[in-house]
Amino acid sequence: MIELKNVYKSYGSGESKTEALKGVDVTVDDGEYVVILGASGSGKSTLLNVTSGLETPTSGGVFYDGEDISAFKDEELTAFRRRNVGFVFQQYYLLPDMTAEKNVRMGADLADNKDYGQIIAAVGLENKKKKYPAQLSGGEQQRVSIARALAKKPRILFLDEPTGALDEATGRQVLDYLIKLKRELGFTMVAVTHNENIAATADRIIRMNSGVIAEIKSNPAPKSAYEIGW
Ligand SMILES: Nc1ncnc2c1ncn2[C@@H]1O[C@H](COP(=O)(O)OP(=O)(O)OP(=O)(O)O)[C@@H](O)[C@H]1O
Ligand SMILES: [Mg+2]
Repeated sequence: MIELKNVYKSYGSGESKTEALKGVDVTVDDGEYVVILGASGSGKSTLLNVTSGLETPTSGGVFYDGEDISAFKDEELTAFRRRNVGFVFQQYYLLPDMTAEKNVRMGADLADNKDYGQIIAAVGLENKKKKYPAQLSGGEQQRVSIARALAKKPRILFLDEPTGALDEATGRQVLDYLIKLKRELGFTMVAVTHNENIAATADRIIRMNSGVIAEIKSNPAPKSAYEIGW
């Protein structure tokens, strides 16, 4: 279980200080699938970064099974993320000198995962795996980034706008694969999206507004990626 307790995160100081998170309290259960919605600048990415241990909160705690990772030293935090967390970034952050396949293999190696090939195929990139990121479209790069995160077999998968660059058909295919894999492997999934329709596939929906949680809603009957609007 992940618990955020009274989490604040600010950037900069003085005149240029931005309070991106202003007292966030939330719990995510093991195996749960949570979607985070909210306007641009409302703090969605910051919430994801702080929850996953990519960034440290200015104050407050981020507890994993009762242990406060915000108190970890840098090396401890790196080891923690390496063992537990998969991350799909809003800007992909692929390694430019490696092919799509090698990028995915980087993730797989971290988990000693030998059969990452099926993940590449499942995101529809079998025929693009020898290409370098610069030779791929935005949507293809996004799928490499998703495959890389999955290849790591994370305990918790964090996704920042995972379908933002994908057309409807590819977006549904990738989302469907993510949800099925989550059920099969039992990992926890926390996804930020601008697409309100996607919220209907989640177990719970968090709505951010100006650095605070405006609403948390449970969804008793999550829909499949093919049952929602787009
Ligand atoms: N590294 C940073 N340095 C300074 N300010 C930042 C930084 N990261 C985020 N912010 C600010 O914090 C606020 C929240 O940003 P955040 O990226 O979390 O928003 P978001 O909800 O993810 O927006 P979007 O939908 O556009 O991705 C914004 O005002 C943003 O300008
Ligand atoms: Mg963002």
